[in-house]
Amino acid sequence: MTNIQAKMFNKRASNPKNRPDQIIKAISLRPGQKVADIGSGGGYFSLRFAEIVGEKGRVYAVDTNPGFLEHVKNSAKEKGLVNVIPTLVSKDELDLPEKSLDLIFMRNVTHHIPNRVEYFKSLRRFLKPYGRIAIIEYKKGKIFTFRGLFGHYVPKETIIQEMEEAGYLLEKECNFLPEQHFTIYVVKNER
Ligand SMILES: C[S@@+](CC[C@H](N)C(=O)[O-])C[C@H]1O[C@@H](n2cnc3c(N)ncnc32)[C@H](O)[C@@H]1O
Repeated sequence: MTNIQAKMFNKRASNPKNRPDQIIKAISLRPGQKVADIGSGGGYFSLRFAEIVGEKGRVYAVDTNPGFLEHVKNSAKEKGLVNVIPTLVSKDELDLPEKSLDLIFMRNVTHHIPNRVEYFKSLRRFLKPYGRIAIIEYKKGKIFTFRGLFGHYVPKETIIQEMEEAGYLLEKECNFLPEQHFTIYVVKNER
């Protein structure tokens, strides 16, 4: 069942209508960089990142669901990717190396996080100087949709304000996604 869900996440993430290639281009990763994919799900993006950052880089695939992480581990092995580190998180207590990350990537996960301002603040300790956080989240959409009925979205203005309160500055906004908003942040005193 977990495997089926993981594959379903990956099918959606890789669908050209969700612009995966444009997302990859917009975050401009380089070989050797270190990335955390928080809420990695089936790991579609974790694996794409791993191919770009190469053996000298690292991708922490972070999730609360051990079954999804098992799927990511097996998929990385199949592709011969040795730089993907499945990382289980319980109760938002992230176990990542401090001051190590060039990028934290969060796609379709912030609606699961309860105290977001505190959570976003807590991410700062993992970033390298000039590290970035990229957030992709569902827009509200129509009321009688799954995400409308179950609140699986966070408006862009809310995310921008919460990130500002948490000490970040909006660096870039990408407007090419049909169902989501996509914003990239840096720590405030670094710009
Ligand atoms: C809708 S899926 C998105 C998966 C993936 N990011 C994608 O775009 O295909 C949300 C994922 O976030 C995970 N998740 C939920 N709460 C989380 C938390 N507090 N920390 C990390 N992952 C979480 C879920 O287990 C699930 O895998």
